[in-house]
Amino acid sequence: MSLSRRTILLSGAAIGAAGAVTGLPAAAGAAAGRPLAYPFTLGVASGDPDHEGFVLWTRLAPQPLAEDGLGGMPDRDVPVHWELAADERFRHVVRRGIAVARARSAHSVHVELAGLLAGREYFYRFRAELHVSPTGRTRTAPAPWTMPAALAMGFASCSQYEHGYFTAYRRLAETEPELILHLGDYQYEYAPDTYNVPGGNPRDHEGPETRTLANYRQRHAQYKTDPDLQAAHAVAPWAVVFDDHEVENNWADEVPEAPDPEFPARRAAAFQAYYENMPLRRTSIPRGIDMQLYRRVRWGRLATFHMLDTRQYRDDQACGDGYRDCAAASDPARSITGAAQEAWLLDGFRRSDAQWDILGQQVFFAQRDNNSGPLTVTSMDAWDGYVASRDRITRGWLAAGVRNPVVLTGDVHAHWASDLKLDYADPTSRTVGTELVCSSITSTGDGADSASGSHPWFAFNPHLRFQNNLRGYVRTTITPGQLTADFDVLPYVSRPDAPAYTRASFVIEDRVPGLHQTADNPLPSALRGGAPSVDPGQQTVDQETVRP
Ligand SMILES: [Fe+2]
Repeated sequence: MSLSRRTILLSGAAIGAAGAVTGLPAAAGAAAGRPLAYPFTLGVASGDPDHEGFVLWTRLAPQPLAEDGLGGMPDRDVPVHWELAADERFRHVVRRGIAVARARSAHSVHVELAGLLAGREYFYRFRAELHVSPTGRTRTAPAPWTMPAALAMGFASCSQYEHGYFTAYRRLAETEPELILHLGDYQYEYAPDTYNVPGGNPRDHEGPETRTLANYRQRHAQYKTDPDLQAAHAVAPWAVVFDDHEVENNWADEVPEAPDPEFPARRAAAFQAYYENMPLRRTSIPRGIDMQLYRRVRWGRLATFHMLDTRQYRDDQACGDGYRDCAAASDPARSITGAAQEAWLLDGFRRSDAQWDILGQQVFFAQRDNNSGPLTVTSMDAWDGYVASRDRITRGWLAAGVRNPVVLTGDVHAHWASDLKLDYADPTSRTVGTELVCSSITSTGDGADSASGSHPWFAFNPHLRFQNNLRGYVRTTITPGQLTADFDVLPYVSRPDAPAYTRASFVIEDRVPGLHQTADNPLPSALRGGAPSVDPGQQTVDQETVRP
C-alpha cells in the first residue's frame, strides 16, 4: 500500500469508516486472509440506467492476467464498500453500502440502485480493504413523463485488442456523453497471431482461444486493463449487447461456426464471463446457456432504446453463411430475433410514446448488395440473411405509427449510413427509417480515408449514403426536433494517442425518415500520420467476411 493511499484513507476521504468492516461476519472480513494487493486494476463501470437508478460495477483482480481467470484473488468472498455521491469529491454522499465480491463470480460486484432522483449526475467509487477504486461518473435517465431538451450519446463496436490501441474509446470519453451504447464484439475470442492486420498486430491477446470460463474471464480482464477503455466506462453509463465474438465467430443460437459438441458449455461460459464483466442488471444473470439480454432503456419521452439480441435466438445462417445470392434467406419461417423477442419489439413499438425509437443492435439492417449485375449477393450473417424478419420489424414500426425509427448498428468495421426502404429492390419506394452504423474501435487496423460516396456498392445500393473505412465511433445528439450524427474517425490505431476528427455529419429531422448530410470533411493530410490516404481495397468483401 502506498503512503498516499494510506494518507487518503486516514484523512477521512476514503469510503466509509474503518469500523464498518467489523460489523461483517469474521469469515468475510479482511482479517480472514492476507491483505489484498491493489484489486481495482479493471476500473469501474455503470450501466442500464433508468429514471431512478443504474448498476454500479467493478471486479477485484490484483493480477488481472492470471491464467485461471481468477485475477489473483484468494478463494474467499470479500466485502466491497461502495459509495454514491452527488459531487465528484464525495462531499454529498447520497448512498453507501457493502456488497460482497463472491469468489464464485470471479469477485465481480454489481450494485443495482433504485430510488434515486431522475435526470441527475452521480459519482461512485468502491473500497476493498484499504484500497480505493477510481471514481466513476454516471447518471439516472430523465423521468418517464418528461421531455428532455437533448441527449448527447455515443455508440461503438468491435474492439479487437490486438488490432490497435483503444484511443477511440478515450476520444469518445472526452466528449463526455451522457450514455454510451456498445453494440457488440466488445472482445474477441482468438489466440494470439491468428487474426492479424496488415503490418502485424501492435498488441497480443493473453491466453489461448477462449473456450472455458477461465479463458473468457482472463480475456475480459485483459481488455478491462486498458486505460482508454476504463476511461470510457468511467465517464457515463453504458448499455451493452453482445454480438458473436464475445462467444465465437458467427455463432447462431446453439449452432457454432464449425461442428462442436462442446458448444453449449462454451456458450454458457462466455455468457457467465460476459455478465461478470459488464454493468448489467440481475435480470441478465445467465441461467445455463440462456441469458436475457434484450431490454429497453428509456430516456424520458425523448428516446426509447430497444436493445436487441440478434445472436441467441436466430436461425442458422442460410446457404452456408458468407455472401450469397440465396433464396432461402427470404424464407418467412426464418428469424434473426426469435418469435418472443419479435413480439416484444413489436409490442414496444405499439406502446411507445417516444419521440425517437432507437434499435441498438448488432448487424447491418439495410440491404447491402455487393453484386453489380443481376444477382443480389448479400451477407447471410446480417439482416439480409433474414429478409422476412427485417420485413416484419419494418412493417411493425410503420403499423404502430412509430414517429422516428432509427437503427444503430456495429459489426462491419466501417462507418456507414443508410436510408431504410420498404422495398430495397425499388429505389423509388419510400424511405421508412434511418440506419447509422459505427466503425470499429480497432478491428481490422488503421484503415484509410476515402472520398464520400466513392464506395463501389453505392452504384447499385442507392439507399446507402455514407461509408468510411477509418476506425472510430458515432456521436448522436438527440433533441425533440432532430437527431444529429457525427461520424468521428481516428487517422490511425496502430500507435497510441491519435486525435479524433469528425469525418461527416448527418441530420435526421423529426417525422422525416432518412439522412441529410450537413458536413463532409476529408481527413487533412497533416492527420494521416503515415496511414495510406486512400483506401486501396475500398472495404472489399474479403476484408469484411473474414471475421467481422
Ligand atoms: Fe467485429
